[in-house]
Amino acid sequence: MKLFLDTANVEHIREINDLGVICGVTTNPSLIAKEGRDFKEVVTEITSIVDGPISAEVISLNAEGMVSEALELVKIHKNIVIKIPMCAEGLKATAQLTKKKIKTNVTLIFSAAQALLAARAGATYVSPFVGRLDDVGAHGVDLLEEIAGIFSIHGIDTEIIAASIRKPEDVTAAALAGAHIATVPYDVMKKCCNHPLTTQGIERFLKDWETVPKK
Ligand code: E4P
Repeated sequence: MKLFLDTANVEHIREINDLGVICGVTTNPSLIAKEGRDFKEVVTEITSIVDGPISAEVISLNAEGMVSEALELVKIHKNIVIKIPMCAEGLKATAQLTKKKIKTNVTLIFSAAQALLAARAGATYVSPFVGRLDDVGAHGVDLLEEIAGIFSIHGIDTEIIAASIRKPEDVTAAALAGAHIATVPYDVMKKCCNHPLTTQGIERFLKDWETVPKK
């Protein structure tokens, strides 16, 4: 399973990119709004940091508007992936962009049927939201398993991005469920990196090292 960073914060993207663990970034209108900066300016900066798929979301509610936003966004960089909300108009836009060989990430997926439709419309990626399903008492990881099962049975090559990740356990569960990618928020990525026993272990090694006779 590959890892993307789920943020529009360029400092965080630089820091995590330097670890060599991510190969893409996802943004959404809420993440962009948090930065208080111009949308295109932020996305352009992200493309200069990470050499991989960068999802930028459209906000139109009809296919025509979505496609025209997409055509502007792809001018920014060859790595731009158009994030489209899952709905009938979104499917229409996905099909049109696929014909134009533009990559899409169909987002806000909450059922396997939605993922199947998005894949059939030609989506490069689908983004099932694990955490938001857990929030309403469902099991987000079960949805990942269902989609992975369906895509594998039917030879569908759309990649599954486990989104709305809230904790390190979601990352490992997504990997076990067969997601191709997990898009991980900065704080969860930091938590995945650390473990109290690792910190304790490093401290003990250094302490013991002080007792080694030095010539
Ligand atoms: C990523 O593609 C999604 O927009 C994001 O993971 C949503 O996460 P949230 O449910 O924490 O807002």
